[in-house]
Amino acid sequence: TLDPFKLLNLENVTQEQASALEVITQQFTISTQKITEIIQHYVSEMHKGLEKSGQTLAMIPSFVIGRPTGKEVGTVLALDLGGTNFRVCLIEFKEGNERIVGQQKYRVAEELKTGKATELFDFIADCVGKFLQEIGYAKKNEILDLGFTFSFPVELTAINKGTLKQWTKGFEAEGAVGKDVVEMMQDSFNRKQIPARVVALINDTVGTLLAHAYKYPNALVGVILGTGTNGAYFEKISNIKKLGTFKSKSEEMIVNMEWGGYDNERKVLPITMFDNKLDRESINPRAYLFEKLISGMYLGEIVRNIIIYLIDRDLLFKDVPISHSTFKKINEQWGFDTAWISKIESDQSTNLDETKEIFEKHLNIGSTSLTDRQITKRICQLVGIRAARLSAAGLASVITHRDAIKTECSIGIDGSLFEFYPKFDQRLKSTLYEILGPDADNIHLGLAKDGSGVGAALAAMLAVKNA
Ligand code: GLC
Repeated sequence: TLDPFKLLNLENVTQEQASALEVITQQFTISTQKITEIIQHYVSEMHKGLEKSGQTLAMIPSFVIGRPTGKEVGTVLALDLGGTNFRVCLIEFKEGNERIVGQQKYRVAEELKTGKATELFDFIADCVGKFLQEIGYAKKNEILDLGFTFSFPVELTAINKGTLKQWTKGFEAEGAVGKDVVEMMQDSFNRKQIPARVVALINDTVGTLLAHAYKYPNALVGVILGTGTNGAYFEKISNIKKLGTFKSKSEEMIVNMEWGGYDNERKVLPITMFDNKLDRESINPRAYLFEKLISGMYLGEIVRNIIIYLIDRDLLFKDVPISHSTFKKINEQWGFDTAWISKIESDQSTNLDETKEIFEKHLNIGSTSLTDRQITKRICQLVGIRAARLSAAGLASVITHRDAIKTECSIGIDGSLFEFYPKFDQRLKSTLYEILGPDADNIHLGLAKDGSGVGAALAAMLAVKNA
C-alpha cells in the first residue's frame, strides 16, 4: 500500500519529467528488506552504545531511576529548551494528577541560538524570573526545585550533572560544548537571584516517557518527532554495561538513545544527493544524519532541494512567467516550510488549489501548472513516507532489542511532526505492521502532548526522592 508509484496519477508529464521522477522515487523508496537491514544494524549499534561511551548511537544513561508511582506530591518548576520555543511551567502533583499552576512560552530568537551561551542561559533565567513574578510566586521566599528538559546530547554522570557534547537542530551558541549544563543554568539563576535549584537535567524523550509512564504503567518508549527526532526507553540497568557496578534500588533506568546520530558512518542508510546538500549546508555537517532524514526542521528543506533540482533541469515551472524575484524565496535555505508538506499531501482538490495557493502566497510563484503541482505533491509524499518509515524502523528496533513485541506496551510520542502531519501516524503504524506483523497490535502509540514539561517535573521529584 505504500508504493509511491500508486499514490498519484501524474497526468500530462513529459517523458523527461517521468524519468526524473522515477529516479527520485527509487532513491527515496525504502523497501521492507532495507528496513529489516536498518533494524539489524540498529540493534547491534544499541549494544555497542550500551557498552562504551563515544559510540555513534550514544545510548546515554539518564540517571532517571524507577518509574513514577502516581503518588508523587509536591510543586516543582519545569523548563523546556530545545525546539522553537522555550517553556516554563509550575506544576503541582497531588493524588495521581498533575495540575499546571501556570505556564509561559517564549520564542527563542535566532541571535540567542547562535550567540553566546551565557546570553542564552541568562535569557532563560530572566524568563523564569518574569514568570515567577507574574504568577505571584516570587514573594514566597522559598527555593523551588526545578527539572530542566534540555533537548540536546548531554553526557550525564548524575541526574543533575552533564556536559553538552554538541549542538543540534540549528543551535550553536558559543561556549557551551564541553561545559556542565546544570552549572551554567544555576550560575545564571544565582547571578539574577532567581529562587530555583536545578535538581534534574533530562532530555525531552526522557520527559515524554516519564509523563507517559505516569499515565500508562506499561510505557516503554518515549519518542520525539518534532524539530528533531529521538527516542528513550526503559532499559535494565544490568544491560547498561558502561555504567560499571552502578548500585540502585531499581532495576531500570531510562536511556536516551540520541537516535538522530544513528548510522553517521552511512553503512546502511540510503542517502540521496538532496540529503547530502542539506547536510553540507547545515550547522552540523556529517552529524545527526538520521535526524536529517526524518524531522520537522529538515523535511521542508529536502523538498526544496528536490524542487530546485527539477527547476535547474527545466522540468518544473516551465510555463511560469519569470521576473527577477520569481525564485527569490525558493532559493533561500529553509525557505520551504515543513508544515506545507502536510498541507500539500492532504490537498484533495482536483486542481490542487491549496498547493497552488502555497506557491502563490508563500513563495511568490504564480501560474504554476497542474503538472507542476502534481509533481510537487509526489515529492512531498516521497519525503514524508521515507521519514515515517525510518522512524518506524527506529521504534521497531527498540521493541526488538527489548524483546517486547509479545506484550502490550505504550509508546508516548510528542512533537509537531507527529501532531500536525496526520499521515505520519498512519504510516508509522502501517510500517510497524509491515515489519512486525499482527503482533504490532500490541504497540500502542499515543500523543504525549507537552510531556517533557510534566516529565521534567516528575524527574525533579524522583531525583529529590532518590537523593
Ligand atoms: C535532537 C537532540 C536530542 C533531542 C531531539 C528531539 O536530536 O540531539 O537530544 O531529543 O533532537 O528534540
